[in-house]
Amino acid sequence: MISILWLLFQKNMKILEVKNIHKTLAGKQVLQDVSFEVKKWEIYGFLGPNWAGKTTTMKSIMWLIEPESGEIKVFGTNGLMLEDRKSIGFMPENTYLYKHLSGEEFLRFNAKFYEYSSEVCEKKIDEVLEKVWLSWARKKFLKEYSKWMLQRIGLAQAIINDPKILFLDEPMSGLDPIGRRKIRELLVTLNKEGTTIFFNTHILADVESICDTISIIHEWRMLVKNKKVKSIKWWLEDFFIDTISAVSGDLR
Ligand SMILES: Nc1ncnc2c1ncn2[C@@H]1O[C@H](COP(=O)(O)OP(=O)(O)O)[C@@H](O)[C@H]1O
Ligand SMILES: [Mg+2]
Repeated sequence: MISILWLLFQKNMKILEVKNIHKTLAGKQVLQDVSFEVKKWEIYGFLGPNWAGKTTTMKSIMWLIEPESGEIKVFGTNGLMLEDRKSIGFMPENTYLYKHLSGEEFLRFNAKFYEYSSEVCEKKIDEVLEKVWLSWARKKFLKEYSKWMLQRIGLAQAIINDPKILFLDEPMSGLDPIGRRKIRELLVTLNKEGTTIFFNTHILADVESICDTISIIHEWRMLVKNKKVKSIKWWLEDFFIDTISAVSGDLR
């Protein structure tokens, strides 16, 4: 009984809270009153058309840019403390990868931040390469990697620290259906192992099959907040287009 209550309590824990953030870039409003929250163990899809404000929101959460107002709490505290940074994973939209490094050198370079002993570091590199099916390519230079391999090595660096929450900006973009499915399967596996996952995307089929909860942002404003995917009748694509049509005119 106590363990069920403990589980329910844990499941309701907010891992990320974004409250009323506003951001202006080059004199243009790019986020307007953006709010949502992510609970522990969720797979959360942050959806919106191109230019909606998804990347800007993620950069704000990562403290790469600073909103003019509003509040962002990760693990219940304002700002990202160094210790908190060690418990999150982040894969940016266009990961800059050092093309002259091999796969394993790139991971070693990233793992430096976590100050692992060299023994632990090598063990972690082996584990993540295995997880993203790249062990065979560990000695190849990144300039020899295909798009699909680069996406996977980007993901490998984001999970090398066993993050409690993983932030991914368009993890499936530019991948073929097989590549997308593989990434989806990997995200589900990581989630089952206890990682909360938050990702930006406009590929709705990926969301429908793996996300628990979604939000929709359009033209810098939230149109839908924290909606359970199960509660959406019919197809997510119809829901998405109807939601955006309601503010931008009929898109059908
Ligand atoms: N550095 C910048 N300077 C000015 N405007 C920007 C900058 N970066 C993004 N924007 C604007 O912010 C808006 C949101 O962009 P972004 O967050 O990248 O959207 P998404 O990730 O949803 O495609 C866009 O309208 C874009 O023009
Ligand atoms: Mg983007």
